[in-house]
Amino acid sequence: MTTSKSEIKETSSFEKTFAGKRVLITGGLGFIGSNIAHALVEMGAEVTVLDALLPLYGGNEFNVADIKNKIKVVIGDIRDEKIVNEVVAGQDFIFNLAAQVSYIDSINEPFLDLDINCLGHLRVLEAARKFAPQTKILFSSSRLAYGRIMTTPVDESHPTNPVSMYGVHKLTAEKYYRIYFETYGLKSAVIRIPNPYGPRQQMKHNKYSIVGWFIRQALEGKDITIFGDGKQERDYLYIDDIVSAFLKVASSDKTNGEIYNIGTHERVCFVDMVDAILAEISTGKKTHIPWPKNYERNETGNYIADTRKIKRAVGWEATVSLKSGITETVEYFKDNKEQYWK
Ligand SMILES: NC(=O)c1ccc[n+]([C@@H]2O[C@H](COP(=O)([O-])OP(=O)(O)OC[C@H]3O[C@@H](n4cnc5c(N)ncnc54)[C@H](O)[C@@H]3O)[C@@H](O)[C@H]2O)c1
Repeated sequence: MTTSKSEIKETSSFEKTFAGKRVLITGGLGFIGSNIAHALVEMGAEVTVLDALLPLYGGNEFNVADIKNKIKVVIGDIRDEKIVNEVVAGQDFIFNLAAQVSYIDSINEPFLDLDINCLGHLRVLEAARKFAPQTKILFSSSRLAYGRIMTTPVDESHPTNPVSMYGVHKLTAEKYYRIYFETYGLKSAVIRIPNPYGPRQQMKHNKYSIVGWFIRQALEGKDITIFGDGKQERDYLYIDDIVSAFLKVASSDKTNGEIYNIGTHERVCFVDMVDAILAEISTGKKTHIPWPKNYERNETGNYIADTRKIKRAVGWEATVSLKSGITETVEYFKDNKEQYWK
């Protein structure tokens, strides 16, 4: 791949922001966190990762194996006040990504979701207020904060009526970040992520990160199961674009508690995403089955993000097409599948 002039300019401006800076990534052994860690190490940041490696989620030491001598890894929980206070102290930037990520589990285990996704985040915010008041803190929220979609594309003023506890708790945590900015001046921003995919995504189960799960099914020669006709539209965003959104917002002065959507603007049906995977993996097949009972209750309707706000604020827009993102992802997992199929 060739590097464009604008990419070179962008990388050097990120280097100016992050080189030599202390950065904490919670959930940093997971998919998005570990990809942010790689980008920051490249830029010369002093990275600390805090991750509890809870078995249901995507934390995986292999995700940082090639940079493990260049970062500090702390195995610990964002709900643990002592550890959090220690790792947060003096950080210049905090990417607070640790989470219970499954909306399905959030319905069955609402207290666990509340504990990690609200109390855990409050713990980190309190530590930042006390021990790193100059820090900039970014929070990874979700399209599921919107709940049922009324109109697309969805901008940040769309009503928020989540249909899962995960969505409710993400929305609640978003408000903590704004309040910490308004009350204490703690610089913060919230990024609402649509359907992410790419290297280092968990492939252990299909409770979230469906693209990774389908790639696994196809590589194993199994059927990819599509509920209904698969015509529901989603916004599939490649990991490099997600990383650049986080870095752009963190390196800007637009960290005043604002919420930003990110997304591609591509209207991609679920079945098109499956076809893009099958175009890369000839062993895969797809079948359609009726929607299981109760699934419709959590279906939000078509989702496409309106990303004009983040473009206006920091000049971010997605650059990776679904086709090339899937190609890169499949290549990564073909090479490393034994590290993810546990
Ligand atoms: N994957 C998605 O579909 C998706 C979509 C929108 C938003 N997000 C958000 O992006 C963030 C990162 O998700 P991801 O896709 O990288 O998932 P992931 O499961 O790969 O990463 C989450 C990480 O958090 C860690 N973790 C969980 N609970 C913890 C705790 N109490 N203390 C410390 N670490 C803990 C896990 O071990 C894991 O490494 C999350 O906040 C998630 O809600 C994810």
